[in-house]
Amino acid sequence: MNIINQPQTVQELLQWAALFLGKEGQMEGELLLSKVSGYSRAKLWAYPEVELSESDRKFFTELVKLRHAGEPLQYLLGTQSFMGLDFLVNKNVLIPRSDTEVLVEETISLARKLQWPLRILDLCTGSGAIAISLAKYLLEAEVTAVDISREALQTAQANAELHNVDQRVKILQGDLFHPIGCDTFHIITSNPPYITTAEMVKLPDDVKKEPSLALWGGEDGLDFYRRIIKESRQYLKAPGWLLVEIGWLQGERVKELFEKNGFTECQIIKDWAGHDRVVTGRSSVL
Ligand SMILES: C[S@@+](CC[C@H](N)C(=O)[O-])C[C@H]1O[C@@H](n2cnc3c(N)ncnc32)[C@H](O)[C@@H]1O
Repeated sequence: MNIINQPQTVQELLQWAALFLGKEGQMEGELLLSKVSGYSRAKLWAYPEVELSESDRKFFTELVKLRHAGEPLQYLLGTQSFMGLDFLVNKNVLIPRSDTEVLVEETISLARKLQWPLRILDLCTGSGAIAISLAKYLLEAEVTAVDISREALQTAQANAELHNVDQRVKILQGDLFHPIGCDTFHIITSNPPYITTAEMVKLPDDVKKEPSLALWGGEDGLDFYRRIIKESRQYLKAPGWLLVEIGWLQGERVKELFEKNGFTECQIIKDWAGHDRVVTGRSSVL
């Protein structure tokens, strides 16, 4: 450390961040310093003695302090990887989770068995992670993405442009099916808010920094499933498929809702940790 004890070099800044942030501090410090300096992590290791400019040092210490105060790392970095793609994220959108990749992979394998050209609707799209991954991996599929939050949709639009699928991803603002009109789809996907009222108060501090609009699913967490499952039949082609992500304790109750609403071939699919994560069902003629 230099004489006035202000970290100035790459090495000093990383040591300070590791001490300040604790457990994950070394790795998070490297990611944040990489963002601030424009150096890759490998370059940070290769040039520990490089002194950063005063403005970079100031920006870095601000980011580390925000992280220490509980700001999610992904909001500070501005990106999150999902399905091998980098998505822009900010406080207006849920940070895409790796669990949700199960929903996307199921949809892709199902889509490959269906008749093309394929039309897909993604409800509660947030950053657009599901809709844009589907457009990216299912070339020629036409995807419609809906969210009630105008701010979230600005991020979804930016992500669609970033991944060059904005010509095939139509972004609409509104409450679930309201903006759809009389369009019909081969597949409807959704990762809706599904946290219960009781769980909301017990969420970890960093999850509490994500928009509550993206989290709360009503008293028992099932409000969105009741609406989506009931209303989707009107917007599905015959046959058509509905796939929803669920909280890991909601599988049987959501599957029951599918069956009560006339869906067949209903299945609960597990994530890599062995937890119930996705429910799928097939809709025939109304
Ligand atoms: C759990 S997040 C999912 C975001 C994204 N699909 C993902 O998997 O990362 C739920 C999203 O639902 C949106 N939402 C909440 N209420 C809605 C409604 N009534 N209609 C449409 N979208 C809604 C929120 O704004 C939020 O973006």
